[in-house]
Amino acid sequence: MGLVNIIMTMCNSFFLVGVVLLCSWISRGNGSVSYDSKAISVNGQKRILISGSIHYPRSTPEMWPDLINKAKEGGLDVIQTYVFWNGHEPEPGKYYFEERYDLVKFIKLVQKAGLYVNLRIGPYACAEWNFGGFPVWLKYVPGISFRTNNEPFKAAMQKFTTKIVNMMKAERLYETQGGPIILSQIENEYGPMEYELGAPGKAYTEWAAKMAVDLGTGVPWIMCKQDDAPDPIINTCNGFYCDYFSPNKAYKPKMWTEAWTGWFTEFGGPVPYRPAEDLAFSVAKFIQKGGSFINYYMYHGGTNFGRTAGGPFIATSYDYDAPLDEYGLLRQPKWGHLKDLHRAIKLCEPALVSGDPVVTPLGNYQEAHVFKSRAGACAAFLANYNQRSFAKVSFGSMHYNLPPWSISILPDCKNTVYNTARIGAQSAQMKMTPVRKGFSWQSYNEETTSYGDDTFTVAGLLEQVNTTRDHTDYLWYTTDVKIGPWEGFLRGGNMPVLTVLSAGHALHVFINGQLSGTAYGSLENPRLTFKQGVNLRIGVNKISLLSIAVGLPNIGPHFETWNAGVLGPVSLSGLNEGKRDLTWQKWSYKVGLKGESLSLHSLSGSSSVEWVEGSYVTERQPLTWYKTVFNAPNGDEPLALDMNTMSKGQVWINGQSIGRYWNQYKATGNCDACNYAGWFNEKKCLKNCGEASQRWYHIPRSWLYPTGNLLVVFEEWGGNPYDITLVKREVASVCSDIYEWQPTLVNWQLQSSGKVTKPLRPKAHLSCDSGQKISSIKFASFGTPEGACGNFRQGSCHAFHSYDVFERYCVGQQSCTVPVTPEIFGGDPCPNVMKKLSVEVVCS
Ligand SMILES: *[C@@H]1O[C@H](CO)[C@@H](O)[C@H](O)[C@H]1NC(C)=O
Repeated sequence: MGLVNIIMTMCNSFFLVGVVLLCSWISRGNGSVSYDSKAISVNGQKRILISGSIHYPRSTPEMWPDLINKAKEGGLDVIQTYVFWNGHEPEPGKYYFEERYDLVKFIKLVQKAGLYVNLRIGPYACAEWNFGGFPVWLKYVPGISFRTNNEPFKAAMQKFTTKIVNMMKAERLYETQGGPIILSQIENEYGPMEYELGAPGKAYTEWAAKMAVDLGTGVPWIMCKQDDAPDPIINTCNGFYCDYFSPNKAYKPKMWTEAWTGWFTEFGGPVPYRPAEDLAFSVAKFIQKGGSFINYYMYHGGTNFGRTAGGPFIATSYDYDAPLDEYGLLRQPKWGHLKDLHRAIKLCEPALVSGDPVVTPLGNYQEAHVFKSRAGACAAFLANYNQRSFAKVSFGSMHYNLPPWSISILPDCKNTVYNTARIGAQSAQMKMTPVRKGFSWQSYNEETTSYGDDTFTVAGLLEQVNTTRDHTDYLWYTTDVKIGPWEGFLRGGNMPVLTVLSAGHALHVFINGQLSGTAYGSLENPRLTFKQGVNLRIGVNKISLLSIAVGLPNIGPHFETWNAGVLGPVSLSGLNEGKRDLTWQKWSYKVGLKGESLSLHSLSGSSSVEWVEGSYVTERQPLTWYKTVFNAPNGDEPLALDMNTMSKGQVWINGQSIGRYWNQYKATGNCDACNYAGWFNEKKCLKNCGEASQRWYHIPRSWLYPTGNLLVVFEEWGGNPYDITLVKREVASVCSDIYEWQPTLVNWQLQSSGKVTKPLRPKAHLSCDSGQKISSIKFASFGTPEGACGNFRQGSCHAFHSYDVFERYCVGQQSCTVPVTPEIFGGDPCPNVMKKLSVEVVCS
């Protein structure tokens, strides 16, 4: 703790005349941030802080204000981001802070919205980001070893960290300077690594902590997943649940830096999602156990544009099932259900920050956590941990019905305003509406065996990252194989078999310029073996191996030493001599594609070659460049490209890469229905099995001109470009699914203000996007309907007028509100049965 922090902690703890004078002297003008066992204090005020991760390079500066506003509207106090070193220092000493990497602009926008910032400088980020955020050149600093007690690494880390801190200070962005940054992070999830490395890891932790603290930011530092974080640094928790966590010192607050809202998608994997009920449950559980800072990782996941995805095999979409979807639209009901949770928690804030809860068992699987302040505030959390059954509990003088795996929040210790398993917010089904299809394409065939000036030849096989320095995904390995006329296979025998062992990640094999086959690994095992009969002829044959990196690793012990590319052995079997080892013969290398060296993706570069058009356009051919020009569609809905009929490659819009696509890689896994109740993990709730892991690729609106936009596709494998479709993302329908008597915060406020004395029923709120109207009622039932938004079904009890009510109140409106009362639906259809309302309306 810096002197100011120590004094501020005293300010918060004691009421001594001298100290009070000192406190008013310190807090004059600029803010202060300190902490104690209970919470982070900002300007002397203990806070329950709700934070969310938005990584600035995963969206565009034009998207930032809207994302930040939606985060604020969703009840967030803080935006958390990593700092992405490899984006900021692409070459040693050459810094970049423009466009998507304009860190200062991003932080100032957060400040403008009135939110705080938690800046995770790292500079190790992990984040499923290429190379974990490290620049690839860092690997080639002599004598370097990453993230351990290594002088060259520490020097580089200190230089970059200092650069960022100084930049923040110069812009007056720390809270102590009147700025929004209230917390900073050094390193990232280093605990498990330190455990593996032993003494050098421990020494590195001590060094990193001291280095950071000595930078004198005036705000606390944190280290996540680092049980031995040295004082005054706060160790914090990352996970799906963190209620079990305690910081390493009694005077540090309990903080959750990554509450995982979902999980990342990998090419070849299904798309994970996390039910809103379980996410809300985990957060309420953390708060009831005394937690005071929670950060959603991710609040907006966004997109791995360009070649920023790590892994390898991390998909271009980093949607993460976050409350704001990849495109920046509200993911409902998750966004709304968390917003309601945050409002309920904030109502409890005075009691929550006052001390530890009193915990009382209410049954075998049920507990009450009660917080009280000296000023008389009382807040209670009633939990039912049972995964299968409801629980009826008594608390105070009342009875409460708790759904399975849920927590009810009572900001006055009497009335429930929120239950984590009872969603009051609307759900939304999204759709991708085609706006433009049948582009008129031109094509250009990439060289398959290039021997230009920039090829070089060595004996043996080279490691890929060492050779490309990651300036491109592609590396050609080419060698000659002589076949004599005496070979037996030429007279009707089996084709010789080529075997190629590669460290990954994908490989296309060309024999005399013809694609002969493809092999690829996966996130779990990036290595691959190609083993296939190949068509060789008498004389000299060219074997060309196009090795492709699909993102560099971002996690694991010394991930920087992991290899990629064809490391061999490479052999040919089925010849008269038996097996011929090709590993150590002469190989020619070419880094990258011809089209890349000509910048075919750019406006200027694309005119440097002759493209063919009309009936000459090559379809379903490997290594083909396609280009077309199109006008931007009207409207402001987010746009994407449907690449479903393409296989694998990259796409650019006006020279900007919208990322790697790989529609050919289908998701394998178990996509059975999943129940919100019970412990969640990243394999529990999956979708897209049997389909492409990622079908749609986000095109930021701001990358388009009104007319004449250049769209360039490089297809490695073969696909049909004529089915590439430009789509817009919009709300297809919205649903409400509400129990009669379901508690709501609005009703509690009406009642506690004394304006209303009788119990109030909840209301169904349905709202299409601005610019849309409710066009029809797809489903409506007050009674005992079943299913979920998108597939509701009538149950045995159904009020006769269910549809009429919504026809009358909602059709033709952008939004509507209907109270969940039997009278409005023509009377109670089944007295003494707990009823609910399920409704789905179509937006168009
Ligand atoms: C790649 O380069 C690094 C650093 O120069 C070196 O230590 C390593 O041995 C190289 N790897 C291979 C497989 O050549």
